[in-house]
Amino acid sequence: MTKAILHTVSPGIGDCELTYLERVAIDHSIASSQHQDYCSMLESLGVQITMLSDNDGLPDAVFVEDTALVFDELAVITRPGAESRRGETGLIEAELSKHRSIAQIKPPATLDGGDVIQMGSTVFVGQTARTNSAGIASLQKMLAPFDYEVRPVQVHGCLHLKSAACDISERSLLVNPSWLDLSPFSEFNVMTIDNTEPWAANAIHINGTVCLHSAFHKTIANLRELEFKVATTDVSEFQKAEGGLSCLSLRFR
Ligand code: GLY
Repeated sequence: MTKAILHTVSPGIGDCELTYLERVAIDHSIASSQHQDYCSMLESLGVQITMLSDNDGLPDAVFVEDTALVFDELAVITRPGAESRRGETGLIEAELSKHRSIAQIKPPATLDGGDVIQMGSTVFVGQTARTNSAGIASLQKMLAPFDYEVRPVQVHGCLHLKSAACDISERSLLVNPSWLDLSPFSEFNVMTIDNTEPWAANAIHINGTVCLHSAFHKTIANLRELEFKVATTDVSEFQKAEGGLSCLSLRFR
């Protein structure tokens, strides 16, 4: 994983979509500073960043992961489940078309990138309020020529599949077992978050290092005990917008 597309924090982030949390004020300058620290963490791990900033009128634009999926063979521009987010994809498409051929999720299908975990040739897709069955079927059709297996996953009680589970190595996931059906992951290693830190499953792994929100002390300690190399950064302002570490970047080779 050597490249990532990010988007600056919209001045309107306080008007973001919210599904599970009560709205509380988000400090734009603290969020921007946390975003800068997040960039520095990625760069320190060898990631080359492209920073976009033309979607500032769209409150959730910083959560770029939801707008596209990047496979080695193609990029899929999503159709976000929240109508307020559909304007975010044009800018991402223009950027990704420099790197991949493009496929588009079309109405009535909806799909959020935060609902998708790729582990080798297996692609897990969360069934959520943001990703409908037509979205999963469209992705299945787009990926069929490349021999990917698309596996639906039942998710409940949280926004995205990646709120409940994230890959932390090629064969391992960090999960909150309360929020998803684990049976589709049976041949993978599953590590459970500390149950006092329900949001801690949202992680990314970059070039051998697992990155987590710095507040999840117990889960971080457990990972380190299992000899995972861990980097941390504070994304507390984004948590108020139901965002986590993974949605802040669109990472690809
Ligand atoms: N606020 C992030 C989302 O709902 O998509």
